[in-house]
Amino acid sequence: ASEDHKEYLKHALHIARTAGQTILAAFNTRSSLHIDLKNDNDADLVTQVDRSVEAAIFSYLRAQYPSHRFVGEEGTAASGDTNTGIVANDETPTWVVDPVDGTTNFVHGFPFVAVSIAVVIRGTPVVGVVYNPIMNEMFQGLLNGGSSMNDIALPLPPVRPLKSLASALVATEYGSDRGSEVLDAKFAALRDVVGSPARGVRSLGSASLTMCYVARGALDAYWEAGVHAWDVAGATVILREAGGLVSNWSKPDSSAAEPYDICARNVVCVRKTAEELHAKAILESIRTTLRPVGYTRD
Ligand code: IPD
Repeated sequence: ASEDHKEYLKHALHIARTAGQTILAAFNTRSSLHIDLKNDNDADLVTQVDRSVEAAIFSYLRAQYPSHRFVGEEGTAASGDTNTGIVANDETPTWVVDPVDGTTNFVHGFPFVAVSIAVVIRGTPVVGVVYNPIMNEMFQGLLNGGSSMNDIALPLPPVRPLKSLASALVATEYGSDRGSEVLDAKFAALRDVVGSPARGVRSLGSASLTMCYVARGALDAYWEAGVHAWDVAGATVILREAGGLVSNWSKPDSSAAEPYDICARNVVCVRKTAEELHAKAILESIRTTLRPVGYTRD
């Protein structure tokens, strides 16, 4: 891993821990939360904590790296411009931040809540930190430098054998979009994967943590349509460094070998297996089951 990337990771860890203290304090005293609906949608929430944590993270990072770019969930939502500007030929390091991933969990007191911080260069996440301050789980990953949870290398041992979907614990999410076309596509995908059959299905309510649980080996696979770059950027490097595979599924004719586009609004991933061909086969069997959901690229 490059020295620059190591320094980015150091700052990301520091500010994630600081943000985590704010999130934990607010989680424990939820009565004073100020909650707003995004686009008048009861399934898409934002709180004052999301906004203030994002502002604090960016103010710290901007002071360290004034020439870098900064993309955050709440700033992007407030500006109404969903184009992140993240493209494959951009050399400028871009910090991609979700201050509270799992806002609905946060509001309801369900403890899968994380701050996610990534550095993306040329469209590829090179540093990722996903911190759940409620459960005190710190996931970190560095391109070509490995990944860990609370300083233990991922995946956590013992790594269970996994040869096919039939013995897999999988995860997906319904997202915040309640349009019937989108829901039909998601439920059809869920039906097909679970009927394949998969052993069990979970929904944790935080895309970044779900990917980290795949990296950890507690979940075997995960897919979702509707995710944004800030939900998946940090966890992508953590999962890859843990030997997992991550891919897009919006283009049925595309190859799983194409580099994962964090802005494409979808994800499918599988954890490390003893033999990679098993992970590849599981990834492919999920990808071919999924029907495209037409979201505009971030
Ligand atoms: C959401 C969560 C959720 C996923 C959504 C995300 P937020 O992020 O990760 O699990 O289903 O797609 O938008 O809004 O809590 O930061």
